[in-house]
Order: sequence, then C-alpha cells, then structure tokens
Amino acid sequence: MEKRVLIVHFSQSGQLHDVVRSVAAALEASDAIEVTHELLRPQSDYPFPWPFFRFFDTFPETVHADPEPILPLSDACRARYDLVILAYQVWFLSPAQPITAFLDSPEAPGLLRDTPVITLIACRNMWLMAQETMKQRLEALGARLIDNIVLTDPALSGLTFFSTPMWVLTGNKGPWLGGLIPEAGVTPTDIARASRFGDAIARQLPHREAGDSGPMLAGLGAVTVNEKLIASERIAIRSFRIWGSLLRLLGKPGSPLRRLVLVVYILFLVTMILTVVPVTALLKALFKPLLRERIAAQRRYYSAPSGEDFSLAAAAK
Ligand SMILES: Cc1cc2nc3c(=O)[nH]c(=O)nc-3n(C[C@H](O)[C@H](O)[C@H](O)COP(=O)(O)O)c2cc1C
Repeated sequence: MEKRVLIVHFSQSGQLHDVVRSVAAALEASDAIEVTHELLRPQSDYPFPWPFFRFFDTFPETVHADPEPILPLSDACRARYDLVILAYQVWFLSPAQPITAFLDSPEAPGLLRDTPVITLIACRNMWLMAQETMKQRLEALGARLIDNIVLTDPALSGLTFFSTPMWVLTGNKGPWLGGLIPEAGVTPTDIARASRFGDAIARQLPHREAGDSGPMLAGLGAVTVNEKLIASERIAIRSFRIWGSLLRLLGKPGSPLRRLVLVVYILFLVTMILTVVPVTALLKALFKPLLRERIAAQRRYYSAPSGEDFSLAAAAK
C-alpha cells in the first residue's frame, strides 16, 4: 500500500519552497509514496521586503506565539498520513508566524497525533530556540518528531547579521562591498544537496513499521549545531520574551506608544548583538577545553533526533 506524506510549507522569497522541492523530488518520483502539499496562506500577506518598523514590530507576537491568522486549511489536512514534513523558517528565534498558526489550527491535533513528523528549517543560522518551541508544540499535539533537517546561511555569523536583514528589508540578497559580504541565504548547492534527505526517506518509508519512531536521516548531516551561538540564543530569546510582553501591553502592532518603545528596544538589540554575541562566542572559545563534556552534551541534545554525523552524506548524491 502507498505511504502518504503531507508537506506543510510557506515561504516569502521562495527559498523554503526551493528546499522543499529538493527534498520532495525523490518522494514524488516514488511509486510507493503519495505526496500532498499544503501551502499556508496568511489571511493578509506579510510584506516582502519588510518595511523597517513592520519587521521589528512583528517580534512580540512571533515570540509569544500569537500569529496573524491563516486562511482555512485544505481538506487534505483532515486526513491521516504516514509522515508529515513541517517546513518552516525562523522569525526572531521562534517558529515563523504561519507555521505557528498552522499548529494552532483545529486540524493540527487530528493530523499530527501519533504521526511521525520531520521538521525542515531554512534560516540564517539561529534556529535552536525555535526548534525547542517546535518540539514542545509537537509533544503537546502528540506528534512523534523523528528527524530535523536544518539548512543555514554558511557565511560568517557576523556577516549574516548584515546580509540577512539587508535581504529581508530590501529584497536584495547581495553580495555587498565587492563580494566581501556574500549573498544572503542558503546556497543553491546546499539546496540541491538537500535531495539526499528525500532519497533516504523514499528508500526507507515504504518499508517502515507504523510505530517506528527512529530517525531516517542519521549520518546524513541533517543538522550542524553552532555551539558558539547557544548562549546568545538563550539570552536573546529571554530578552525577546520580556520586551515582547512589555510591547504587547503598550498596544497593538503599529500603535504609536509601542512604536516609540520599539525604537528604544531596537537600539538595545543592536547593542546586544554587537556585544553579547561576540563576547559569549569568545568566552565559549576560551573555556572550550574546560567545557568539552558540557558542549558535547549540548550538541547531542540540540542535534537530536537526526544527529550531526555526516559520514553518509558524501556517499549520497
Ligand atoms: C521577521 C524575520 C525574522 C527572522 N529572524 C530570524 C532568526 O531569528 N534566526 C534566523 O536564523 N533567521 C531569521 N530570519 C530569516 C528567515 O528564517 C528566513 O531565512 C528568511 O526570511 C527567508 O525565508 P523565506 O523562505 O520565507 O523567504 C528572519 C526573517 C524574518 C523575515
């Protein structure tokens, strides 16, 4: 009997759609698998490129999981599947609003309960806290997270702090300064190579027991944990939540008082990024010999369930 796969996705620039296409190719080519796509449609479109204030004013609702509504899901979301792939991007260290709205939908519990789920992320490079939130949501919905695939911008973190905001605020990916700052986003090569995950799923899914909760993508380098960013992410998500609560008390998105305090927060945030991120990264590098065990444990925890091993990735086409 054919195995049924649902892929849920949304993308502003098309980057995440490209990643989904690459992963889905082998599944769609398989006679043993039937693939259904569910494209999330916000009730009113998010702007792309983002106006400066609208971009920052989106963070309080994003980190507090209070998304803008999406249009009703299709009938496909009232069926059951052998595998659900949830593709999402990270907004402010949290799952982006459209995927949160999907998790809030009346269909999500019936669709995800006791169902194997693979999360598929394409973002700048800070995804750890977003995936922690996603894990909690999936657990509450009774889903079984079996793998996590993460594609990130490979440029140096310091450079992507410039290139990603430039991309989403202007629509221009770069490169800038004569190539000193590379083009923003996941590289076309990494997107093309994500087909290895689809190949592995297409090979294994038709023969998998329904109750199997083991990963299908171990050894394929599905995730890489940047240990230097762990502390920054933890500090930043706390700050987002505290300031986000305050801003939400001051009014709805776009209200004048909220905008005024948002300016203060943006200045605070830029200062944090320029100080906390390099300082925590430096501390982590300095204390690395003492923290070896702890860092290894953190990497194991955050890279679960697929793991960081990429010994089979080279052999995959
Ligand atoms: C509002 C907003 C906030 C973002 N915050 C983060 C973030 O916290 N971490 C990260 O790695 N990428 C972040 N990004 C980059 C996105 O995850 C994503 O890579 C980019 O928006 C392209 O996604 P697309 O497929 O929707 O075009 C953010 C993008 C936007 C628009």
